[in-house]
Amino acid sequence: MRGIIKGTGACLPKRAVDNHELARIMDTNDEWIRERTGIVRRRLISEETTVSMSACAAERALENAGIEPGAIDMILVSTVSSNAVLPSTACAVQERIGAANAVCFDVNAACTGFLAALNTGQAYIHAGMARNILIIGAESLSNLVNWTDRGTAILFGDGAGAVVLTAEEGELPVAVMHSDGAKGGVLTCRSPFEGSRSSPAGGGAGADPSGYEPFIQMNGQEVFKFAVRQVPRCIEELLEKCGRTPEEIDLFVLHQANARIVEAIARRLKQDISRFPMNLMEYGNTSSASIPILLDELNRGGRLRKGMKLVLAGFGAGLTWGAAYLEWEV
Ligand code: COA
Repeated sequence: MRGIIKGTGACLPKRAVDNHELARIMDTNDEWIRERTGIVRRRLISEETTVSMSACAAERALENAGIEPGAIDMILVSTVSSNAVLPSTACAVQERIGAANAVCFDVNAACTGFLAALNTGQAYIHAGMARNILIIGAESLSNLVNWTDRGTAILFGDGAGAVVLTAEEGELPVAVMHSDGAKGGVLTCRSPFEGSRSSPAGGGAGADPSGYEPFIQMNGQEVFKFAVRQVPRCIEELLEKCGRTPEEIDLFVLHQANARIVEAIARRLKQDISRFPMNLMEYGNTSSASIPILLDELNRGGRLRKGMKLVLAGFGAGLTWGAAYLEWEV
């Protein structure tokens, strides 16, 4: 058995913040941001939350798939920016959409998280442990960004995307995933729970001898080099396992971090950039949400036809990276 994507959905915050607006609160400018990243604006939450965007994207995906919430037997949410530590975003989504029969849990593999959740879903379906799975990527990264750090604040945005994965006869699609924890220091966001700061054993409530910084911190150039080196290799590894060539792929749906990264990956694979759709100009880097948001835009925009061959690829903190092959089947 394998899962096929039956439907897609996305949900973006209403509030769009363009580069000019950012330039009013930090030392940056529209030209610099566009040249270095391709980003023009991003959506940032005001009333929305990771849970509300997840539930809204999930409902749209269910409608698109023509599946009732009660038929969903698993909800997987990839996020690093849950509303709450407990309960999981997946359980909160279950309650909101009325998917009473679902098993629910969250996955954290940063910007590779949607692929990790998709592969987990595929494995459950392959093992006969689930039939209809909601896979959601959702982030409120604006809560993890230091709005005085121009090196990171300009890059990120908020949003959610979802797909419904349904069991069908057939072989498990090929996917590859990698991690390198030794290089984790180049992209971090510390937790308030690190060590035992607030317990009696750790020096008393709130004691924080280490200068806790709750924001995303990044060595941008190292992350850039990692992405443009590892992602093309990983896609080549994937295609070799599938017995396909890059020329046979209709669309490369990559994590939307930076237009220069996507362009460099296309160049290294010697493929035309027109087969690497991008929407990061509008939304910035939405981490786990970027691939399903882009898939939904392609799906609803009529750019996906039955039989099309797609490669999805993600990369991010961990370090983590991966790619999945799929044929569009609806
Ligand atoms: N506006 C204006 N100037 C800025 C700026 C901003 N928002 N951010 C940095 N600068 C300045 C720097 O201070 C530096 O100035 P200096 O030369 O006077 O020291 C100069 O611009 C160049 O900075 P640098 O960090 O070398 O730029 P860069 O070309 O590496 O681009 C990134 C920075 C972050 C856009 C780029 O490294 C990148 O995209 N990395 C990948 C990040 C990523 O995608 N992370 C998520 C992965 S999931």
